[in-house]
Amino acid sequence: MLKIEKINQYYEQSHTLWDLTLDIKKGKCTCIMGRNGVGKTTLGKTIMGLLPLKDGKLIYDGVDIANMSSDKRASLAIGYVPQGREIFSQLTVLENLEIGLLGNRNGLKKVPQKIYELFPVLKEMLKRKGGDLSGGQQQQLAIARALCIEPKLLILDEPSEGIQPNIVQQIGEVIDYLTKEENITVILVEQKLPFARRHGDYFFILDRGAVVASDEIENLNDDIVKKYMSV
Ligand SMILES: Nc1ncnc2c1ncn2[C@@H]1O[C@H](COP(=O)(O)OP(=O)(O)O)[C@@H](O)[C@H]1O
Ligand SMILES: [Mg+2]
Repeated sequence: MLKIEKINQYYEQSHTLWDLTLDIKKGKCTCIMGRNGVGKTTLGKTIMGLLPLKDGKLIYDGVDIANMSSDKRASLAIGYVPQGREIFSQLTVLENLEIGLLGNRNGLKKVPQKIYELFPVLKEMLKRKGGDLSGGQQQQLAIARALCIEPKLLILDEPSEGIQPNIVQQIGEVIDYLTKEENITVILVEQKLPFARRHGDYFFILDRGAVVASDEIENLNDDIVKKYMSV
């Protein structure tokens, strides 16, 4: 689905990602893990095209997207939910979702009913300002907005961060639905081990901008966790 080949990324002089190579499998949830500051968000932004790529390849569905704009990537059905959600707090829930629809390559004009089935709370809050929602509801809105483009690949950057447990559980159920029922590929940046274990199929661990471990999620053992994830 997505082959990331030897990508390097820099912030000015600072070399942030080092020869990263990852294979993301279709219809599976791949977890990107590792401590704070190791480059997980940088990787997500690079896949989405929010940071220009200096060298390396991003082969998505057989096409090298490395030099495409983020809009172009969205039109190829890549969806992105940034860390910290970044919904429009002055706009209503419905307006936030309609902004997602603008990126829909099939010209969809109405929010699909399915999205309200996945996030019933949003349907009750369509006229509320995004900024009046709880953190968990904003996260759900951010995911719902990304689903409005009808993604085939969805990148979620720490969706469970700072969110109450019942909403984390609902988000987990949505991830399971997307991968198992809709065959959507999910890249999940995640630091919470139980959540990654429950909803992930594969993992890649980054340390200082390099891949240091990767496997099927059931092989994510305590030694690896101790070495690369505990503080
Ligand atoms: N906009 C930026 N400018 C300069 N350095 C940055 C910027 N964003 C992140 N960094 C640095 O790049 C490294 C990786 O950051 P990031 O990708 O956000 O890590 P993670 O998501 O794993 O916490 C960190 O050392 C961070 O300080
Ligand atoms: Mg991050």
